[in-house]
Amino acid sequence: MGNVGILWVCFVLLMAIQAMEVPKAAPVDPISDNKKIFKEKRSRLRPVDNIFKLPITSNSWPEGNGFASGVLDLGKLQVSQVSTFKKVWGAYEGGPDDKGASVYEPSGIPQGYSMLGSYSQPNNKPLFGYVLVAKDVSQSTSNGTLKSPIDYTFVFNTTSFSASQDFSLFIWLPVAPDGYKALGHVVTTTVDKPSLDKIKCVRSDLTDQCETSSWIWGSNNFNFYDVRPSNRGVQAPSVRVGTFIAQIGEASNPPSISCLKNLNSITQIMPNLKQIEAILQVYSPFLYLHPDEKYLPSSVNWFFSNGALLYKKGQESNPVPIAQNGTNLPQDPNTDGEYWIDLPVNDANKERVEIGNIQSGESYVHVKPMLGGTFTDFVMWVFYPFNGPGRAKVKFINIKLGRIGEHVGDWEHVTLRVSNLDGQLWHVYFSQHNHGSWIDSSQLEYQNDTRSVGFPTKRPIVYATLHGHASYPHVGLVLLGYPHAGLVLLGKDGVGARDDTDRGGNVMDLGKFVLVSADYLGKSVIEPPWLNFYREWGPNINFSLDGELKSIEKFLPGKLKDRFENFVRGLPKELLEEEGPIGPKQKNNWSGDEV
Ligand SMILES: *[C@@H]1O[C@H](CO)[C@@H](O)[C@H](O)[C@H]1NC(C)=O
Ligand SMILES: *[C@@H]1O[C@H](CO)[C@@H](O)[C@H](O)[C@H]1NC(C)=O
Ligand SMILES: *[C@@H]1O[C@H](CO)[C@@H](O)[C@H](O)[C@H]1NC(C)=O
Ligand SMILES: *[C@@H]1O[C@H](CO)[C@@H](O)[C@H](O)[C@H]1NC(C)=O
Ligand SMILES: *[C@@H]1O[C@H](CO)[C@@H](O)[C@H](O)[C@H]1NC(C)=O
Ligand SMILES: *[C@@H]1O[C@H](CO)[C@@H](O)[C@H](O)[C@H]1NC(C)=O
Repeated sequence: MGNVGILWVCFVLLMAIQAMEVPKAAPVDPISDNKKIFKEKRSRLRPVDNIFKLPITSNSWPEGNGFASGVLDLGKLQVSQVSTFKKVWGAYEGGPDDKGASVYEPSGIPQGYSMLGSYSQPNNKPLFGYVLVAKDVSQSTSNGTLKSPIDYTFVFNTTSFSASQDFSLFIWLPVAPDGYKALGHVVTTTVDKPSLDKIKCVRSDLTDQCETSSWIWGSNNFNFYDVRPSNRGVQAPSVRVGTFIAQIGEASNPPSISCLKNLNSITQIMPNLKQIEAILQVYSPFLYLHPDEKYLPSSVNWFFSNGALLYKKGQESNPVPIAQNGTNLPQDPNTDGEYWIDLPVNDANKERVEIGNIQSGESYVHVKPMLGGTFTDFVMWVFYPFNGPGRAKVKFINIKLGRIGEHVGDWEHVTLRVSNLDGQLWHVYFSQHNHGSWIDSSQLEYQNDTRSVGFPTKRPIVYATLHGHASYPHVGLVLLGYPHAGLVLLGKDGVGARDDTDRGGNVMDLGKFVLVSADYLGKSVIEPPWLNFYREWGPNINFSLDGELKSIEKFLPGKLKDRFENFVRGLPKELLEEEGPIGPKQKNNWSGDEV
């Protein structure tokens, strides 16, 4: 195992050297006339001018196979991850937050490796990305895994774009030889075609289809997008390269570049048990509950041993207590509503269990390979005995939604995505009401680790929303409106369900974890029986929406009543939660990518 401490130092030094490599005099400057106008805009410092470094210290990882060793063999094609860059060009308008975007070439490519494409990101975030570089280890002269392009096609240049920019950018798409594919662009600041040995194309059997994902930048109907494999999930061999695509017009799929494909075992360099422990020790978030939160998390065993009951259809008057680890829960993979879990019957007990027990709280971790085994996802599940009632905002009025949104048995999660090549935490997924978002590590909040891990370090922060327990990276209010099928993060007409986060005194350390599933480790991880309970973790709630609406609308001025009613009726089932909630394994994306 590489000594990550030393690697970090090298990494930081390299970054510092790169940071000084500011593009000097531009070879061609067709927009020199406009230069004065844009000078001021350009001189302003943007987040991307800072290089992000994880504020997390990690000692070297425990011994193992190839985790964090820096290389992976995809099948006679060795790849390595490069996250040091040389800036080629920048635009200072357009893109997310209208802060522009920058384009880079990987720098410090290890000896023997070749570039597969360039990197680009919006300027509204610190520089933080990677591209894979590759080395042909096939020893075949005629049919190797890498070949130079035979030519380039000119994609577009930015000369006539209205956005303020550094000189002009020329974007080239490699023309791959027969049986090979291009994985990214070459970018230049002159009209001259780049040299053919600048980049390599990959033999087709080692490539897979990709799709555009987030938008990086655009101007005058030309756009840059991030790309990712179309086929993602625990079994999917497709590998993200980290390169970007430049397109004319809106995102069109499939793009003209490919992703990589791992022909070898996708679990080759996945972390072993000791490494999993070390990773979770340094990266596990602190979970902050809202100051007004009444419904706290608990361990599953606390819930079971404090009176949770197993009901069987037709025998409702005779529920049975649930044993430790759920050993008496049905294990057949049916979701037929024959059984369900509920709170204790007795009112005092019910209230006691509803409010949870944060001291017993622990995270339940599912470890799975992702993106062809180049990353490991650590899905960290948290259990809450009860999900409190929803709250809405109608213009300036806050409304408690009564029974709407309430349910017993609430499973929430965040996912840490760690690179198997460099051992770094790259992204965190925040689950929000059957949806969610991936956030770069550079956009997270961190706090000092209070445990003694032997060295000073920080860990990420996650905030859980009041009552609904959705997870967010920052405090604040998000209004959820549902004008369409997708989740829209803005209430329509000033009406929306409230997702409130704030930093309360109740904090759960997700680093107190139980590893509940890691298929690739075979029999060394035994799934607890409760994980294989396929039915619902709470009863169906039988209430009349009309009745609830009537009692709530009493408090609203006349003209807001209709708006409010339309909004509530438009809420998706997940938020109305008339049906009991399902367990982690029954949720979508147990074996897929998070979306
Ligand atoms: C090159 O190798 C690939 C993968 O092994 C194979 O599918 C292809 O037929 C080979 N091409 C030639 C010309 O040998
Ligand atoms: C740059 O692109 C414009 C079209 O946007 C084209 O007219 C012009 O010829 C290009 N310049 C060069 C040097 O290729
Ligand atoms: C519950 O599971 C844990 C491991 O997850 C095990 O150590 C413990 O012995 C189990 N308890 C019972 C009562 O089965
Ligand atoms: C799970 O993934 C699938 C596709 O992989 C997607 O359609 C679905 O919306 C995702 N569900 C959640 C809860 O993220
Ligand atoms: C966090 O730790 C650093 C030293 O590692 C220290 O300088 C800083 O004051 C600490 N911050 C807080 C909020 O405790
Ligand atoms: C649900 O409530 C309605 C009346 O509010 C009642 O007619 C119906 O039987 C209830 N269903 C169940 C399953 O309890």
